[in-house]
Amino acid sequence: MSIMMDAATFAEISRLVRDYAGLAFGPDKRYLFESRLRPILARFGLRSFDELPRALARDRDGLRVAVIQALVTHETSFFRDRRVFDHLERQLLPELAARRGGQLRIWSAATSTGQEAWTLAIVTDRLRRTHPGLKCEIIGSDLSEAALARAREGRYSTFEVQRGLTARELVEYFERDGEHWRVRARLRAFVRFHRHNLLDSPRPLGPPFDLVLLRNVLIYMDVPTRTRILRHVVAALAPGGGLLLGTSELLPPGIALERDPAIAGLYRSGGAIRRSSDLRDPNAARLRREIIPGRALSP
Ligand SMILES: C[S@@+](CC[C@H](N)C(=O)[O-])C[C@H]1O[C@@H](n2cnc3c(N)ncnc32)[C@H](O)[C@@H]1O
Repeated sequence: MSIMMDAATFAEISRLVRDYAGLAFGPDKRYLFESRLRPILARFGLRSFDELPRALARDRDGLRVAVIQALVTHETSFFRDRRVFDHLERQLLPELAARRGGQLRIWSAATSTGQEAWTLAIVTDRLRRTHPGLKCEIIGSDLSEAALARAREGRYSTFEVQRGLTARELVEYFERDGEHWRVRARLRAFVRFHRHNLLDSPRPLGPPFDLVLLRNVLIYMDVPTRTRILRHVVAALAPGGGLLLGTSELLPPGIALERDPAIAGLYRSGGAIRRSSDLRDPNAARLRREIIPGRALSP
């Protein structure tokens, strides 16, 4: 019995993961595959990696999902990069809410175990103090059912809540649940989680979004896949809406969004930046006429 993965098996599993989830792994990741997939062999009664491709081909037992989930990175935390959420709370969300008559739809795409979606719930809850009547709908989605089950449960270890939440946020928005902390009911009212593969159209997730967070997932994908996913996301954005990528992630060419210099990783649709910064400019009307909605304005 071989406990090593040969090159052909590695290539076949890589192809499966790319076709199904868009994730691209280079040949240097063979060791990672071996270490992450070894427990799966035992779980599915396979004696060696050589048996894996055939078992995947006749998959009836969730083997495919288990393989992908084992290879995907679910790393996340509350308020991951706090400056981003400070900007959302102070500037972007109030601006978007004003445009949309006090109603916001926000999508945390690739939300993993939910910390990003719950962070948005905290931010928008605080915003309601200065914007009474603000209505928010937050949707968290991910490919992984296991991650989503944890997100829906909203129950986190002390280690997890300590990564990003202040003591004040913890006591205000979480309650003790044994050794864990559970999100309070008042946040649960406006957050929903759905399984969604980013390679597919987000139409089933409902009407357009004012803000989409798509952070720390495109880095695992090649450029054609990023482009395909971002086209879906652009189609799901309301006019003037915002897209937030991870701070080190760049928009591939050909995506009809404008970079918002206010914060790294933020992009806007439909000429929103000029419109908001030139509201008092006497040339604003002329500028507005010049902006062709949907055209990329970034240099
Ligand atoms: C590193 S986590 C990022 C979590 C969060 N966005 C953050 O920045 O903290 C990446 C997540 O992307 C999800 N993912 C990977 N490929 C996906 C796909 N094709 N469709 C939907 N989710 C995907 C994984 O399941 C994982 O939970």
